[in-house]
Amino acid sequence: MSDLRAACLIGWPAGHSRSPVIHKHWLKTLGIPGDYRIEAVPPEAVDDFVTRLTARGYVGANVTIPHKERMLALTVPDARAQAVGAANTLWFDGGVLRSTNTDVEGFIDNLDASAPGWDSAQQALVLGAGGASRAVIFGLLERGISRVLVANRTPARAQELVQDFGEKVHPVAWDAIDDVMPDSGLLVNTTSLGMTSQPPLVVDVSRLPRSAVVADLVYAPLVTPLLAAALAQGLRTADGLGMLLYQAVRGFSLWFGQMPQVTPELRALVEADLFTRK
Ligand code: ATR
Repeated sequence: MSDLRAACLIGWPAGHSRSPVIHKHWLKTLGIPGDYRIEAVPPEAVDDFVTRLTARGYVGANVTIPHKERMLALTVPDARAQAVGAANTLWFDGGVLRSTNTDVEGFIDNLDASAPGWDSAQQALVLGAGGASRAVIFGLLERGISRVLVANRTPARAQELVQDFGEKVHPVAWDAIDDVMPDSGLLVNTTSLGMTSQPPLVVDVSRLPRSAVVADLVYAPLVTPLLAAALAQGLRTADGLGMLLYQAVRGFSLWFGQMPQVTPELRALVEADLFTRK
């Protein structure tokens, strides 16, 4: 065990994460003598790993697939982690291991930075109904968006979101996406469509209002076919890389005690890593 404050990313597999690039950059630029390591932990070992985090030398952790849901039972989750059904950030509060889901603020903070005023939208249209969609919906409702339409390939999953998040959430059929666009001031893709080696997301963004904002959670490629189509229409966009950077801010500040900044320099560094290490 070293004297450095250290955090880690717990996943299985965990090798592809960009989190070490982000946190090591902040440690370096803020002059903090800390470390951020990757810990590949299989499902059968994750309970033991997390309950002995301090003994392993860690002040906190990020958690990724497939362990995020399990963290609700191993930690004291906040309202966000409970509503999303998954936690991605763990920290010690005195002797208590707490957890949250920073995808919520990652999504919202990136929208605020990329498209200020986006929240004047009366209605948002969210594509997908998985864990990422839950984080997005929680953030939109918390911010006061009054109507959130959800379209999902499997309708039952969108229906479940109404039960969990209430009557401001309205399921719409997957083949009705283009029809509801004219009244939607914000379009968000939370599905894997458009990701490298996945089919593109085929929707007609020309039907959105001129003032609409289009957000994509996919960050490989950086400019997805959806974002390219939105940019071609002159619409404002928020990309998945921005969300990835903003979701890392709170974990860092909780572990290392300083508030880091999302800068063009950090973005360029992670972009370069995305190109060189696919
Ligand atoms: P995450 O936690 O990233 O949200 P997830 O829970 O696996 O991951 O959800 C993936 C989302 O992408 C789901 O909304 C999924 O739709 P289904 O619920 O119908 O599976 C959506 N998705 C994945 N592949 C898709 C495809 N080819 N067409 C439409 N939607 C797709």
